[in-house]
Amino acid sequence: MKILIINGPNINLLGIREKHIYGKINYEEMCKYLKEKAEKLKLNIDIVQSNIEGELVDHIQEAYGKYDGIIINPAAYTHYSIAILDALKAVDIPSVEVHISNVNSREEFRKRSVTAPGCIGQICGFGIYGYVMAMMGLINDLKQE
Ligand code: DQA
Repeated sequence: MKILIINGPNINLLGIREKHIYGKINYEEMCKYLKEKAEKLKLNIDIVQSNIEGELVDHIQEAYGKYDGIIINPAAYTHYSIAILDALKAVDIPSVEVHISNVNSREEFRKRSVTAPGCIGQICGFGIYGYVMAMMGLINDLKQE
């Protein structure tokens, strides 16, 4: 199974940005951790990150025909990107939305996800382990297909 992990704006600043919310682990360390976890789950993963909405849309479009599943943390775009929602719906690849923080216990505007309706599920509040949970969710879902 091939899974593409897509990270949105400022996720590359993990370990620097608001550590009390997003943790001390930096982006490179997170990628290494996710690759190790994926290997144990026998998943083939690629990880990409962009601060640009259109590039995130490109990544979703390019996944078509190449990946069995997508794990996406659209970051701030979660709350307003119809373009990302449309791209997820267009490629129709089983996708899971992940948020490192618990978006439901923060500011009001973070409670609304515009992009989640394009996903089979959403995970938030478990730190970077949420991506591993999403991998397990996708494996379970893809096996049933
Ligand atoms: C985030 C939550 C978003 O509200 C925020 O804009 C982010 C990160 C998370 O992973 O918790 O940049 O997606």
